[in-house]
Amino acid sequence: MYKLVIQGGNALHGTIKTSGSKNSSLPILFASILADEPITLTNTPHLSDISTTLRLLMDMGGEFILESDNSLFIDSSKLTNLVADYELVKTMRASILVLGPMLAKYGEAKVSLPGGCAIGTRPVNLHLKALEELGATIEVKNGYIYAKAKKLIGTEICFNQVTVTATENIIMAATLAQGTTTINNAAQEPEISDLCNCLNKMGAKISGIGTSTVTIEGVKNLNGITYSVCPDRIEAGTYLIAAAITGGSITVTNIHPQSMRSIIGKLIETGADIKTEKDTITLDMKGKRPKAVNIKTGTYPNFPTDMQAQFTALNSIADGHSTITETIFENRFMHIPELSRMGADLTLEGNTVVCKGVKSITGAHLMATDLRASASLVLAGLAAKNTTTIERVYHLDRGYETIEEKLKSLGAQIKRVQD
Ligand code: UD1
Repeated sequence: MYKLVIQGGNALHGTIKTSGSKNSSLPILFASILADEPITLTNTPHLSDISTTLRLLMDMGGEFILESDNSLFIDSSKLTNLVADYELVKTMRASILVLGPMLAKYGEAKVSLPGGCAIGTRPVNLHLKALEELGATIEVKNGYIYAKAKKLIGTEICFNQVTVTATENIIMAATLAQGTTTINNAAQEPEISDLCNCLNKMGAKISGIGTSTVTIEGVKNLNGITYSVCPDRIEAGTYLIAAAITGGSITVTNIHPQSMRSIIGKLIETGADIKTEKDTITLDMKGKRPKAVNIKTGTYPNFPTDMQAQFTALNSIADGHSTITETIFENRFMHIPELSRMGADLTLEGNTVVCKGVKSITGAHLMATDLRASASLVLAGLAAKNTTTIERVYHLDRGYETIEEKLKSLGAQIKRVQD
């Protein structure tokens, strides 16, 4: 097992190129099942969640070639095994995205139920209900979802809760359905727009992209294409905070600033000087201590839950009191006890963290628990005066490409060591 050792206290300065988005790449990889030809993706990040997806697709008969320049040739057009096995699904909840495409293309699928995870119970009932509305018969037994449909039939779907991956699953399923599907109360995350743009390039007919009402006119088949995955706004946001929390300055390139308005707004409130251009964001903290900011997570375009833990680290050492309210997941606070062990003054009241900013925190031996909680511990370690050791870094490798190399290039003292 690897751990990260961080010697904190250095202000970070420099330029980072944002990697391709994890949450775009995953649905797009599963969308390759829908195509009758191979597809080529560029700007895909090297992450363990991507490897898990490729293993799952290979298990079912897919093939791929991964190039060192982050381009990926993938052929999932002729699957031979329509089963997504528990062993892989249990390691990555987004595996549920295999269900819609398999059902639409082959009329059947057997997919392991993903189960809960550290941040909440995360059921998939909304995925299943909407697929039933498209005409699928679904049975759940022995921990597996058995889905069948001779032909999915387009219909009007209304999600009673906004959900990202269920919106993606239904969009993918509806591309090959007979007739038109309208999804009301759809999630509007930029990664969903990226998936839709990719599907349209493959020959799908999707309109209302990026809005809460998405319409999909079913087509007979989808084609092979080359597509460039959009940049990872959560990765970019995490590096912007790395500079802000250490009083440094950073330019993040290969990013769409308009997809990060809520994050940038909060960083400006901390006192950071921010300039955006077409595909860059520059943040300069000018050596100042950040001001505490109140955060309330929500669905896009509101503040993303995937940046909540990182802002909690920032608020921990910021000037002033703040509240951080989590409205998407019921248990996304695994970082709180770890940050408290570093000297942060954090109290959990229901789904709100009350934070009294302290002038400094101290390094400690910490345990990473989930992807974004781990990122918050790295950020805290960068701001702490002495050494922080973070165990279970495999959580970070799910979503941050070469994190220690990128941080080192900004002047951080960080290394990965084996137990
Ligand atoms: C996606 C993102 C994740 C992000 C989250 C919220 C991917 C691969 N993951 O996760 O990084 O944190 O959106 O922005 O894109 N729910 C149900 N029943 C369902 C589906 C969801 O009750 O069938 C609930 C969830 O438990 C949660 C809420 O709806 O409380 C929103 O979850 P959802 O948007 O579905 O999150 P994911 O798609 O799993």
